[in-house]
Amino acid sequence: MTKPKEPKKLAFAQARAEHARLGEEIARNDERYYREDAPVISDAEYDVLRRRYDALEKQFPKLITKRSLSKKVGAVPAEKFDKVRHKVPVLSLSNVFADAEVEDFVARIHRFLGLAADAPLAMTAEPKIDGLSCSLRYEAGKLVQAATRGDGYEGEDVTANVRTIGEIPHVLKGNAPDVLEVRGEVYMRRADFAALNARQAEAGKPTFANPRNSAAGSLRQLDPSITAGRPLHFFAYAWGEISALPADTQMGMVRAFKAYGFPINPLTVLCHSAADLLHHYRDIESQRAALPYDIDGVVYKVDSLALQDRLGFVSRAPRWATAHKFPAEQATTILRDIEIQVGRTGALTPVARLEPVTVGGVVVANATLHNEEEIKRLKVRIGDTVRIQRAGDVIPQVIGVVFEKSPKGAKEYKFPEFCPVCHSAAVREIDPKTGREDVVRRCTGGLVCPAQAVERLKHFVSRHAFDIEGLGEKQIEQFYADGLISKPADIFALAERDAKAATKLRDREGYGETSVRNLFAAIEARRRIPLNRFVYALGIRHVGETNARRLARHFETFAALRATARAAKEGSEARAEIDNIEGLGEVVAEAVADFFAEKHNEDELDALLGYVTPLPMEEVISASPVAGKTIVFTGSLERMTRDEAKAQAERLGAKVAASVSSKTDLVVAGPGAGSKLAKAAELGIETIDEEQWLKLAGAATD
Ligand code: IVH
Repeated sequence: MTKPKEPKKLAFAQARAEHARLGEEIARNDERYYREDAPVISDAEYDVLRRRYDALEKQFPKLITKRSLSKKVGAVPAEKFDKVRHKVPVLSLSNVFADAEVEDFVARIHRFLGLAADAPLAMTAEPKIDGLSCSLRYEAGKLVQAATRGDGYEGEDVTANVRTIGEIPHVLKGNAPDVLEVRGEVYMRRADFAALNARQAEAGKPTFANPRNSAAGSLRQLDPSITAGRPLHFFAYAWGEISALPADTQMGMVRAFKAYGFPINPLTVLCHSAADLLHHYRDIESQRAALPYDIDGVVYKVDSLALQDRLGFVSRAPRWATAHKFPAEQATTILRDIEIQVGRTGALTPVARLEPVTVGGVVVANATLHNEEEIKRLKVRIGDTVRIQRAGDVIPQVIGVVFEKSPKGAKEYKFPEFCPVCHSAAVREIDPKTGREDVVRRCTGGLVCPAQAVERLKHFVSRHAFDIEGLGEKQIEQFYADGLISKPADIFALAERDAKAATKLRDREGYGETSVRNLFAAIEARRRIPLNRFVYALGIRHVGETNARRLARHFETFAALRATARAAKEGSEARAEIDNIEGLGEVVAEAVADFFAEKHNEDELDALLGYVTPLPMEEVISASPVAGKTIVFTGSLERMTRDEAKAQAERLGAKVAASVSSKTDLVVAGPGAGSKLAKAAELGIETIDEEQWLKLAGAATD
């Protein structure tokens, strides 16, 4: 007679089986999330698995082996790519959709360069490849490093993976410059994508949503042998650092890349007018379906590199290029419900919960309805069939209702007048200047609203702000719910608090000794942070990444910014100083002043500065004789337009101000300069003419 198993043993056997099953499931989801860039379950669902797994281990410590997932750091696989700092930032492109916008784009360039409206202008037109951009660095003709775009300033080191892409040369042909960073798109062909998905499915492995995701997932493999098995391709279309230019036109550059051994897109042509560009756009669009790879538009670039240089950049996109996107893809589906999300500034955003539907190869289950007015305008009710649209990476949106399909019981949606989270009144403010009601309804709960607090914290730790490893949205939600972190400074007090707490973080489900240590180290590492990131993290209204950079560049230290912002009452000189920073203006100046006028913001800053030291900004511009100087342009310029001169100065790291003050370092005066020139003389500020400016700027770019 076999003895029945003791209850405890039986429980252990069951626990072991469940632990193994969960382990596999978690690993599969980790793979989808971290390696394939294509999660299939929500964070919350993942958390449930993870918690159960950890609870089993806690109950049965014998389950903890070397292979246990809890031995990996935190909830994420420990392995990581190294970071690569781009010597020349990787840019993005502005977008246009309509023909008229293409005409505007070309007209703007003419104006900027001071050309006659009908003067011919050579521009290239080429397909916009739907892959992921990659920067390949060659030294003495040899591939030494490959990096993803990342945030444009810092990418991931994918050198080992890129070496497995057959089309990318390891050694350049011909007479290539000593240092050459070739940039272009890594992509997967549609047929290869379909075959890969079929193979994955057969092997019981996860499949990819579209060729772009599969290219990204394949390149970002920690194990290069996996990348090697994936059919990736490359088109070269741009460059970063380069020791000598092999040509003086875009077309010439790309041809040179071809001579060095890179594939270039055969549909690239030279055009001479907006009409020409549009003609080629139609031509490429008509070939789109037949191409072996996905494209999502046509990119136009000014051909002459000298003109590209003169045109420069707006924010992070070149003024000399734009992407003419193909129309957005649409689909219809059923609106199941409308839920309200409360943002960092209290804005109530209605989100449509949809019957999942595939739009242009991606499954969409949520779409934005923007605001209350939009719901009214669309006359959308719950249960309706709606038309949704997805353009590129933007959040899908509901664009209309298919009224013929409306069911009898379709339910009108009543927009809440109270915050669904903190129940404070939610109001639409009246703009005192225009007397108009804001389309956005905002929760008035401010500091008492947990939703706002959590969103602010999420913003604070987000990728372009403090970017703290191991402290993502999920952890913020958890820590906030548990009362561990309620404001930014608490993050830096976490280790201290944890040391004093009765239940320690390391004893929590999903944590362990190592992950807690790593988290504290990551927090500690961010106690010194570039000023621009610090300013961006504060979440001041209208101060996104670009404006944070402008403020950081202008003020250089947080103390200087704070002092001016505190003094920036309406009509004050301090307000004018912020307003005058190139690219900012009245609205931003007011928002900055308002932020610093709030006592609780000031208190929070004091608390934060007890832990954090803002450092000089992450500069992308190398030192130039005018870097950090404040310049005023006045009078007419003859060799370039005023806009162009301003852009040139900013590119060299200078600040451009609109009026002369004691803070001005240099005045560039052309003929006809009046009061500003007089003021400069009065204040004893150095004044030069256009010729001298060009020499100075030229010396900086040499
Ligand atoms: S040019 C300054 N050309 O589009 C030049 N970009 O939306 C910057 N892309 O990050 C890029 N095809 O990944 C350029 N023919 C093409 C492109 C292209 C695809 C991508 C690239 C870039 C993104 C910008």
